[in-house]
Amino acid sequence: MKERFIGNYGLEQVGQKVTAKGWVANIRNHGKLAFIELRDREGLLQVFVNSDIADFDKLHDLHKESILAVTGEIVARDERFVNPHLKSGQVELRAEKIEVIASSKTLPFELDNHAHAGEEIRQKYRYLDLRREKMTANLKLRHQVTKTIRDYLNQADFIDVETPYLTKSTPEGARDFLVPSRVFKNQFYALPQSPQMLKQLLMGAGLERYYQIVRCFRDEDLRGDRQPEFTQVDLEMSFVSEEDVRNLVEGMLKAVVKASRGVELTEDFPIISYEQAMRRFGSDKPDTRFAMELKDLTELSRGNSSLFLQKGLKKDNGAVMGICAKNAGKAFTNRQMAALKQLVMDFGVAGFATATIADGQVTGSLKSTFKDHNAELLDRFEAEDGDVIFFVTGSLKRVQEALGALRVRLAKDLDLIDDSKLNFLWVVDWPLLEWNDDLGRYQAMHHPFTQGAFEDGSDWKENPEKMMSRAYDIVLNGYEIGGGSLRIHERSTQETMFELLGMKKEDYERDFGFFLEALEYGFPPHGGLALGLDRLVMILAGEENIREVIAFPKNGQGADAMLESPSSVSDQQLADLRLDLRD
Ligand code: AMO
Repeated sequence: MKERFIGNYGLEQVGQKVTAKGWVANIRNHGKLAFIELRDREGLLQVFVNSDIADFDKLHDLHKESILAVTGEIVARDERFVNPHLKSGQVELRAEKIEVIASSKTLPFELDNHAHAGEEIRQKYRYLDLRREKMTANLKLRHQVTKTIRDYLNQADFIDVETPYLTKSTPEGARDFLVPSRVFKNQFYALPQSPQMLKQLLMGAGLERYYQIVRCFRDEDLRGDRQPEFTQVDLEMSFVSEEDVRNLVEGMLKAVVKASRGVELTEDFPIISYEQAMRRFGSDKPDTRFAMELKDLTELSRGNSSLFLQKGLKKDNGAVMGICAKNAGKAFTNRQMAALKQLVMDFGVAGFATATIADGQVTGSLKSTFKDHNAELLDRFEAEDGDVIFFVTGSLKRVQEALGALRVRLAKDLDLIDDSKLNFLWVVDWPLLEWNDDLGRYQAMHHPFTQGAFEDGSDWKENPEKMMSRAYDIVLNGYEIGGGSLRIHERSTQETMFELLGMKKEDYERDFGFFLEALEYGFPPHGGLALGLDRLVMILAGEENIREVIAFPKNGQGADAMLESPSSVSDQQLADLRLDLRD
């Protein structure tokens, strides 16, 4: 084993005779002398090779990424040659003997951080991609984050318990990944979308504080912040309030930021209601690193005869809203404006219009529309000459979501986001249920185990949409990095919940009977949360795709380009499982 990583050599090693083992990151052969940048996981070490040593010839046909063992003395570099960008930049190794431990073929792509390699090739040769400094740093960051989390939770008396990966398919949530059983004819296991019920059962088991850093599996459409298998920091606690859970998680996230960024966050994380988040930011996971809040113009628009406004107001729960982009008057070409319009219209809104402010007036097609309200409008948006107001009309929720997406897009395009900020935010007071048009029934906004925030004895069925829940999400820089709730812990309440979700008694008895029964044996009140570890690390690493912080991720289609998975299997394997394949 190495006594010291070569990237960490420094002045203390000067005068020592060492054998440095690492990969050839770069080689500059000047004929009479050569410089090799030798790399290990901690960084680079410069090796100086004089042509008078016997092994000099070995450098002639040496490819990058071959592994060398170089024996020699560590010497201090002349002050002129100190490299402040390298940990080992004050020293170099004077080679006396060079042994090639493993040679490398010519690489399929350059590992230099600035060289651009395509996504597909990076994944196919992931083990090479991970040698890049940035990727190694991301994996180290991930390790540091999980270590901090484990230390924090262990300190707080949590018990780490593993739960099974071969579990049972249950309705609700995303599509399951299924695993056919060989032993049980025509039966399937499902990979867990999260250990939700199992962690609740651990509360029933009397563990009181559980955590697990656990892989979850969801067969859903992929995005930059979604993978089919991803990791949760999953935790559950008994005898707690929402505040208890939030405080614990907040303390944990502050510890993570301290360990990874060296920054002490002293302020409490802000708390905002779901309703306010939608109203002010058009998103249930607002990015609060910039302002540009939504303004409601519905009342101001009511008596207005403009067709643009009336078309939107006629919609179910019709609304007129807008946002103001400072100084954006000259920022966009017509083509870019058309793309912004498309982004908004794709949300199914009724109308989109823009107005540039000039000489203290709304200009363009909406000039006459707002002529009686010009001052009020400008005042509401705090708009000045050169600013652009974006107006959107239609059904309230669609208008909010469209403006929420536009807001983020504009902030990126106009470079309004301070990348160094970490803006955490709790979103609370979620509705318990939401109507799903496709299913023709209510579905749980979080999951069916979430407690309602209403007095016992109130009639659930009276106004399902107005029922609030005891759920909370934690948001960071516009990403939902975690969510949780206090849970239902009584059988009758859980049954009512299933019924509200349109399940018949025989359905929930079949799918959840074991769970309902458990609630009858002295089940403690409890609650918890799960953090999306990949997303958290992605943000801390300054990346925009969780693939960059996962050692072996899937590509955009959910395939592994290196393992070439998924793949077909042998007829024998299919026969064992009694499976026939269809086209
Ligand atoms: P939820 O479904 O909100 O809650 O998941 C918790 C967090 O996991 C992350 N996440 C994902 N990350 C990457 N890829 C995905 N496909 C993906 N899906 C979710 C998100 C999310 O906030 N059992 C509940 C938690 C609880 O109630 O305690 C649950 O799974 O960051």
